[in-house]
Amino acid sequence: MTRYVLTLEDSAAFEPWREMARGALQRAIPPEAIDWRIRGGETDLFGQLAPVGDGLEALTAIPVVKTVTLRASCIALLRDMLCHSDPARFALAYRIAWRVQGNPHLLEVATDADIAKARIMVRQNREDCHKMASFVRFREEPGQHDEGQHGGRRHFLAWFEPEHHILERIAPFFARRFTDMDWMILTPRGSIRWDGKELVCGTEPCERPELDDGFGELWNTYYASTFNPARVRTKAMRREMPGRYWKNLPETRLIPQLVSGAEARVRKMAEQDLRPAPAFHERLRAREQLPVQPLPDLPETLEGLAVQIRNCTACPLHCPATQAVVGEGPATARIMVVGEQPGDQEDLAGRPFVGPAGQLLHGALEEAGVDRTALYLTNAVKHFRFRLQGRRRIHQAPDGGHVVACRPWLEQEIALVRPKLIVSLGATALKALDGPGLAMADVRGTSWTVGAGENAVQRLALAHPSWLLRLEEGPRRDIERQHFVEGLFRLRSFLDPREE
Ligand code: URA
Repeated sequence: MTRYVLTLEDSAAFEPWREMARGALQRAIPPEAIDWRIRGGETDLFGQLAPVGDGLEALTAIPVVKTVTLRASCIALLRDMLCHSDPARFALAYRIAWRVQGNPHLLEVATDADIAKARIMVRQNREDCHKMASFVRFREEPGQHDEGQHGGRRHFLAWFEPEHHILERIAPFFARRFTDMDWMILTPRGSIRWDGKELVCGTEPCERPELDDGFGELWNTYYASTFNPARVRTKAMRREMPGRYWKNLPETRLIPQLVSGAEARVRKMAEQDLRPAPAFHERLRAREQLPVQPLPDLPETLEGLAVQIRNCTACPLHCPATQAVVGEGPATARIMVVGEQPGDQEDLAGRPFVGPAGQLLHGALEEAGVDRTALYLTNAVKHFRFRLQGRRRIHQAPDGGHVVACRPWLEQEIALVRPKLIVSLGATALKALDGPGLAMADVRGTSWTVGAGENAVQRLALAHPSWLLRLEEGPRRDIERQHFVEGLFRLRSFLDPREE
């Protein structure tokens, strides 16, 4: 049997492998005939077998004998596993791709050795991403505070040692999390760089930089003050923060001292009087006791209205929420977009549509060619409604009472902005604007006119972006998203009055 050597970079993930694998599959070259190698890596078992074909060029001399398709689920599995660092990953991936040609249900066979191994690699990659997300510690680069070109952005540097080639996968997480600073993460497997606009992943191995320890002190003070001596579980700590990460984490130098002093601190805590309730509970109780204020005279400016909305106690939602989220956009906007209520991230940021649903909305507006800065964005309900699940705040749809309590704010926003078009996103906004008579399923994607003459306002009902996010990934979600973009396309004629 002719053997082929296919060589890839160690950092290579899915795409370079895919190109070679496709070529080999189309020529029906069985897995045993391919020696997958890593450039610069150790010569493997077949080294002495003097391969006849070397590289993709050798393959292309052979005629293609079939077309090859891989299902999306298979591509997803291979993509997720191929950033593992095991040198055998390329051969394993090819074996799976080869075997699914004859057995389309192979991926469902959990006991199959190849599939089981691939799934373990996927899990290990995911764990590595999780560790990187938790254990990267940025240090500010002194003297790099740039006033000019980058609008005063600060520059940060971090060093991390991932086990696998996960940088491309984890990079978007860091870009989302640390959007408003410039940073670079260096690793022995490459680097990631973010300058507020562009996210660049490099595969060139980096050397550990000299990191000044000044920042570590601040972090250590924080860590020591949040360390709970009554809950010291060293085994669990080791499991969560394995030893190999310790050398790059400033706080780990404190742990031996904190752990050894834990018992004495717990004893001292037990001897003390009961401490007052934590601040959060105090705040909640104080808020619950606030009297419900009668609706004040509604102000004639959006700024005045925002002040009143932020002080609103008209329904119980104001108690656990961080803050009310008021509308945002030009006071003379021709289009108002009304969502349901702020989500977790909006509640923390105090701005509408900055979380995942907002990102979907902004992406769809861009696709539809609509300038979002020209829109006034607001919500039917101004406080975040949620239930707690452990520490997570899970969104709960507002009920009719919350919508009614907030309606005066929404009505005043409409009266002040006087939009020509009001777009409702989802069923709550529809109900808040048009009452309970209209069903979302009947009007989604349609528009109609409310009022007449000078006061005529066009209404457009669209799905809520969170609903799109909840749909399972696949053709249905793609189609619904496309309808959403098409719906937003109609906004364009309202932005340019010449097209009306
Ligand atoms: N969903 C909404 O309806 N509004 C927001 O502001 C965010 C998410």
